[in-house]
This record gives sequence, C-alpha cells and structure tokens, in this order.
Amino acid sequence: MGEGATALEVLDDEYFQDPHRFHAELREQSAARQVVLHRGLKVWLVGRYDEARFVLADPRFSKEFSGFEELFDKHHVGEGDRARFDQSLVQHMLNSDPPNHTRLRKLVSKAFTARRVEQLRPRIQQITDELLDAVAGQAEVDLVDALAFPLPITVICELLDVPMDDRDDFRRWSNILVGGDEPAAVEEAGGAMAAFLSRLVEHKRANPGDDIFSALVHATDDNDRLDHTELVSMAFLLLIAGHETTVNLIANGVHNLLLHPEQLDKLRSDPTLLPGAIEEFLRYEGPVNQATFRYTTEDVVVGDVTIPAGEIVLASLIAANRDERRFPDAESFDITRPSGGHLAFGHGVHYCVGAPLARLEGQIAVGALLDRYDIGLAAAPETLRWRSSTLMRGLYTLPISLSARGSR
Ligand code: HEM
Repeated sequence: MGEGATALEVLDDEYFQDPHRFHAELREQSAARQVVLHRGLKVWLVGRYDEARFVLADPRFSKEFSGFEELFDKHHVGEGDRARFDQSLVQHMLNSDPPNHTRLRKLVSKAFTARRVEQLRPRIQQITDELLDAVAGQAEVDLVDALAFPLPITVICELLDVPMDDRDDFRRWSNILVGGDEPAAVEEAGGAMAAFLSRLVEHKRANPGDDIFSALVHATDDNDRLDHTELVSMAFLLLIAGHETTVNLIANGVHNLLLHPEQLDKLRSDPTLLPGAIEEFLRYEGPVNQATFRYTTEDVVVGDVTIPAGEIVLASLIAANRDERRFPDAESFDITRPSGGHLAFGHGVHYCVGAPLARLEGQIAVGALLDRYDIGLAAAPETLRWRSSTLMRGLYTLPISLSARGSR
C-alpha cells in the first residue's frame, strides 16, 4: 500500500489486486482505521462484521447528499482537485435519509419483490440461452464480455425500457463514474450520462409505455411525483446498479469455482446446491467492495474507536464477509456452508432493492453455463486484473475455455 500526503495508508492499485490481506490486518488491529482512497479522500474504513453492520444501519451515519460536498472538500488530501459529480445524478435514494429515502424507495420497491422478479425468469433464461448460443463453437471466451456483463444490463434496460443503441457509450461512462477515474474524465462522463438520461426522461414523457420508468415519469399522486432531477437520478441509480454489480456476482463466482475445482465438481454433481453456491459467491468475493459513503452526524463509538462528527465512513463489505468472528473458517470457499448473514447486499434501510433480481440472474447464468459447457480458466490466475474501484470488486476480464458437454 502506498504512502500518501499524510502518514495514512493509501488504498492504491496494489490494495485492489489483493485486498484480503490488508483486510485481515485491519480487522485484527481495530474496528475502524483512517485510510486515504486512491484519489485522495481521507475516510474511516470499518472491516469487522458487527461494526460494519452497525454502520450500515445506524441513522447517525447519514447518506444525505447535501451534506457531502463540504466534507469531500474538507477531507480531500490528494494532489490536484477532486472530481465533482454531476448534481443531476446524485438525488436518489442511496444518497438520502428517511423520510426522503422512504418516499423514493417506495416508488420502485414493489417492482423488485421476489414474486414480481420470479415472473422475469423465462425472459432471463432466454437472454442467457441466446448469449450462450452465440459462443457455441468457440474454444475460449471472455466470460465478462460474453455473459456476465450483457445479461444484467439487457434485463435492467428491458425493465426500464431503455434503448440499447447507446450501450457502449453507457458502459464507458458507467465504468468511469464508479471506477474513480481522473477528475476530468469523471466530470465529462457525468455530464454525458446526465444529458443522455435527461433526454430519456423527456422521451418517456412523450411516449409512455408500461415499463417501470414510464410509471415513475407519469406518477400523478403528489406524494409520488418526482421532479426532473429526481427522475434522472433514479434512472441513473437503477441502471448503474443493474449494470455494475451482477456482472461481478457471475464473474467472481465462476472465477472462484475454477480456482476451487472440488467445489465446481460438487455443484455439477448436485445442482440443488446452486442457490447456496450463489450465497457463497456473494460472501466470499462479493461484487461490492466498500458500501457507499456515509458521514457521522455526531461522535459515534464504533467498537474500540470513536469516530468524530463530520467524518466520512466506509463499511467494507468484503472485509466484513470474511470476519472469522461471524463466519467460521471464513477464508475458505465452501458452497455448502450454511448460507445467510453476509453483507454483500448491505443492511438496514438501504438494503439492496435489486437483491432478488441479482440472485435470480446469478442462478440462471451460472446454472446454464455449467449445464451447457465444461469450463476451465484460460489464463494464469496471477495475470487476472481487478478493477481499481473503491465500490466495485470485479475482474476486468475472465478468459475461460469452453467445450460443449457430451450430454447435450
Ligand atoms: C449482485 C448484485 C448486487 C449487489 C451485490 C448489490 C449490492 C448493493 C448494496 C451493498 C447496496 C447498499 C449500499 C449501501 O448501503 O451503501 C445496494 C443498494 C441498492 N441496490 Fe443493489 N446490488 C446488486 C444488484 C442490484 C440490482 C440488479 C439492482 C437493480 C434494481 C440494484 C438496485 C439497488 C438500489 C436501487 C439500491 C439503493 C437502495 C436504497 O438506497 O434504499 N442492485 N445494492
């Protein structure tokens, strides 16, 4: 880990390539430690399970976006200016506290219940089958490009009825925005994204359909009505969440099956283990590194540490999910371990709205892949690169070998 302008550790690329070693040390030493993110923001990192869960749910850790600007300036210790996020993308539920959060979340939560999502099963299966048909006959593919990325983005775009023509642009902007690129690149991508979504809101206003997005644009009840910026921000949140996370559930999970062939064999010999395997994918190498920013509204005791008021705090989900205090033999990947309790989808009022959808997509994608193909890792494990993102834990590429299974 690099040394920054202060004596604090900087979470640089070396950290992203192997965060688990650092997290073990973090959990050992104290409940929370100050670190500097790779773009120069000083934050408190919380790595133990109980304390991370506490931070996620306690209302003294605020997410209200209006409070952040001043704190980002105050805690920016990096060289040069910090990136400024386009203001029309930030007014969503994940940047708000109750009661505003409650109002915004209520508008979409019904669309993502397990029962509603189950109705999407045939369509998700069909998209998966088409993606797997497209690679038939190829000896080697990048699983991220071939399946893990296109499946969730196709599903969320269909749910919101967003045209797919701009998919490459959208992917590029989205990667830059969650990846913490250079400030100029973040600002340019944010502007382009906001303009794209703003045009989309206007399009929905003029051409309503029976999708979730149209329902939001045309909500008539006063309490349900969203202003233009809230609509742009809501679309941004749903598209980004649908775009950047489930890709890592699928790719990180398959990566770990390939690194642990005995687990892959177990899953092949008993497909009923699949739902539990997905939970272990989420616990062992979940798609989200650190939960999103929170800040203390007063001094708060977190385990053996007091975090003063006005500090930015990150609960490390992937660190908490390997805490031995909560998960016996936490560093071992075991698809048969009792599932449940992991923090990969967060905890408290901001618990992931899309969890049932993500689980279903993960099960269908991995189930169909294993059903149709024998797979192997087509690159030396040490050559695979992890994204340098505080938020996302994902591989840039996952080259795998494929051969059609004899039984089909
Ligand atoms: C495996 C895939 C996914 C993972 C691991 C994941 C993880 C998370 C986490 C950790 C949070 C809480 C963040 C925090 O408290 O700081 C969250 C919130 C959220 N997620 Fe997901 N997510 C996934 C997929 C999805 C999908 C497919 C959607 C699309 C609908 C979605 C929509 C949301 C929304 C709207 C929130 C904000 C909820 C709120 O503020 O009340 N997520 N997600």
